[in-house]
Amino acid sequence: MQNYSFFMPTRVIHGEKELVNQAGLLKQLGNKCLLVTGKTSARASGALDDAVEALTSQGIRYELFDQVENNPSLENVGAGGEAARQFKPDFILGIGGGSPLDASKAIAVLAVNDIDPEELYRNQFDNRPLPIVAVPTTAGTGSEVTPYSVLTTRELETKKSFSVPELFPRLAFLDWRYTEKLPLTITRDTALDALSHLVEGYLSQRATGTSDLFAEQGMKLWTKSLKSLREGVLPPEDRDRLLVASTLGGITISYTGTTLVHALGYSLTYYYDIPHGRANGLLMAEYLRYNAEHVPQRVTNILTWLGLNDIEEFAQIMTELSGPMVELSAEEIKQYAAKAVTTKAALQSQGEVTEEVLERILQNS
Ligand SMILES: [Fe+2]
Repeated sequence: MQNYSFFMPTRVIHGEKELVNQAGLLKQLGNKCLLVTGKTSARASGALDDAVEALTSQGIRYELFDQVENNPSLENVGAGGEAARQFKPDFILGIGGGSPLDASKAIAVLAVNDIDPEELYRNQFDNRPLPIVAVPTTAGTGSEVTPYSVLTTRELETKKSFSVPELFPRLAFLDWRYTEKLPLTITRDTALDALSHLVEGYLSQRATGTSDLFAEQGMKLWTKSLKSLREGVLPPEDRDRLLVASTLGGITISYTGTTLVHALGYSLTYYYDIPHGRANGLLMAEYLRYNAEHVPQRVTNILTWLGLNDIEEFAQIMTELSGPMVELSAEEIKQYAAKAVTTKAALQSQGEVTEEVLERILQNS
């Protein structure tokens, strides 16, 4: 029997316009707020307007740091930290996809700890991070309910996460309207990220009866939107389902961590600039084949919940949604496998994950 505890301290608020309707909750976090966003998505989604309306209605002073890059680097969050130390906010409100939300977490630490961003990976800080409010504008990252911040480190030539329990956002607002204007490619890429969190969480060695509840429910919900995801036109109900599925995926991995798909996918993103979710989508069918050797019943359950007959059908859908895999040289395959094999994510996978196993997954993907 497995010993475990469950901790998910984020208050998740679901529904249209709730950021404005429930603005009083923001006031409980303080009188000064740093808004953290990317360059365009927060504005385009309408979420930034709602956030400003909410803050203004409560008399909360705010400044905007809108310089978060895609796949933010340590240098990039360092600049956000600098802006935060000058403005001295009481809390951080992050709006966007995974990049701005993860950057918000780093900035929440750096706002009150004048350290080199490299030191974020120590996962120990003198001062507690500022409270975070997360407003996702994509349905994929799940970052609104995790304590993880994934950052790009040029020194290690990959993405690597840091985490402390205080980085669970205090509040997460799920409003499907913010995902409405996303281009289809981003909708699909991020949906693949959500699916990978649900699938990897369910196949993680750290999965328990509790995390399985979220993973199962998330997959069942995700698959209801699959038809429109394939057709390329998503009605509000499907966008809402994907957003909730994505949050369920976040809750799942906040508990189980991710596995080798993420560990390998980071190299595809770092070296080939393949969007994070798509990188996972490219690897997932082969990952299921690998898992079928170790936990066949779990793989069968996944296929059942997704309404699919077999891994072949799953593979077909992944190819349809993520497009063709890049051609990797033998040398690249060796390099990516070597990089991934020592990561926590690889170690949380089923079976004994050796470099050969990872090379095979890359080779066959
Ligand atoms: Fe992810």
